[in-house]
Amino acid sequence: MLTLFKNIKQLRGILPVSVRYLRGHEMDTVISIDNAYLIARDGFIEDFGSMDSCPISATSATFNQVYDLSGSIVTPTFCDSHTHIVYAGSRQGEFVDKINGLSYEEIARRGGGILNSADRLANASVEELMRDADRRLNYAIKHGTGAIEIKSGYGLSTESELKMLEVIKSLKEKHKCDICATFLGAHAVGRAFAGRQSEYVDYVINDMLPAVARQGVARFVDVFCDQGFFTPEETSRIIEAASAHGMRPKIHANELAASGGVQVGVAHNALSVDHLERAGEEELRLLAQSDTVATMLPGASFFLGMPYAPARQAIDHDCIVALASDWNPGSSPSGSMPFIMSLGCIKMKLTPEQSFNAVTINGAAAMGLSHLYGSISRSKVASFIVYKPYVPDANYIPYAYSEDLIDSVFICGK
Ligand code: NIG
Ligand code: FE
Repeated sequence: MLTLFKNIKQLRGILPVSVRYLRGHEMDTVISIDNAYLIARDGFIEDFGSMDSCPISATSATFNQVYDLSGSIVTPTFCDSHTHIVYAGSRQGEFVDKINGLSYEEIARRGGGILNSADRLANASVEELMRDADRRLNYAIKHGTGAIEIKSGYGLSTESELKMLEVIKSLKEKHKCDICATFLGAHAVGRAFAGRQSEYVDYVINDMLPAVARQGVARFVDVFCDQGFFTPEETSRIIEAASAHGMRPKIHANELAASGGVQVGVAHNALSVDHLERAGEEELRLLAQSDTVATMLPGASFFLGMPYAPARQAIDHDCIVALASDWNPGSSPSGSMPFIMSLGCIKMKLTPEQSFNAVTINGAAAMGLSHLYGSISRSKVASFIVYKPYVPDANYIPYAYSEDLIDSVFICGK
């Protein structure tokens, strides 16, 4: 299947295929070609360039399909490297509690928060979970996401964690959008272990992990390493045990306090450490010396009224900065990556170019997928966004933060 996309007003996000991420001020630039074409063969990018050198003169019979994208900006699809889109029900009751002054931690201490979602998930059927997660994934794809990470973590028992991971597996089978599964058994202490945190950690290591590994349903492991949740020592134990099963860590760190999560993550060569609202000098310096992606989740800061993670400082320190949606029912009930890119600019003061690189190539790096996604490069997957022809230039995209600017999304060339 050979497809030609011609007359692209501007093809953006071009990188040599060998670039795995952009670090620090490498994020300042987005390479583009005006008046461009792109050729996809069997779902992969075969070639692209200026229309002046477009092989269109080779009769259109050469191509199975030709799209005229006159007037449109084209970019790679978003790489949303941190989500929790498998969940049951919703938590708008807590949303009102928050409006009335309770903090995220106070709600969690009252048995709300993650445990509230775990109760609902335990009572939900696989079919219900699948229906809702499928709807969310379709929303994400329609809004430009072409590769996504999805975590477990509302199960908190072996049975329910496996149920969540089964749903993620079914989503994977159904969709062409790339999906990576992360096992997050240590998201909170399950109710059955209330007051017995260290026993719960043993249970995660000795019961959940081997079961998850046996079924081969998770590529990564995550721990909520933060004040009131899991300590750096517990996190270390869990990720070391997971490493023995070949699962690489992606850690929730420094959302609520300077938790030591960044230090544990970097020490264990985590693919990413995520949140970072309370990351300071020491954490940024460590990250800059590592290949661990600093993933920031501005949707959670926006929704919970927390400080935003120090994205600009992280770039100045030479870190690899990614932005992700954190779509979940408690701290970020939205999977709109265009909005995340806008928050990157509006609230974190990233330039449109930095924000763009944070939601594409560096998001891909945070999922270990940058050989396939995150840029327009020969041999990468032909997943890209076509913007509406009236969009005047690329800066308009994060600027018009609630306008629906996406005309169409191609996943694997279709
Ligand atoms: O990334 N911070 C921990 N986990 C999720 C929120 C989970 C929830 O509140 O349901 C997050 O924000
Ligand atoms: Fe999260």
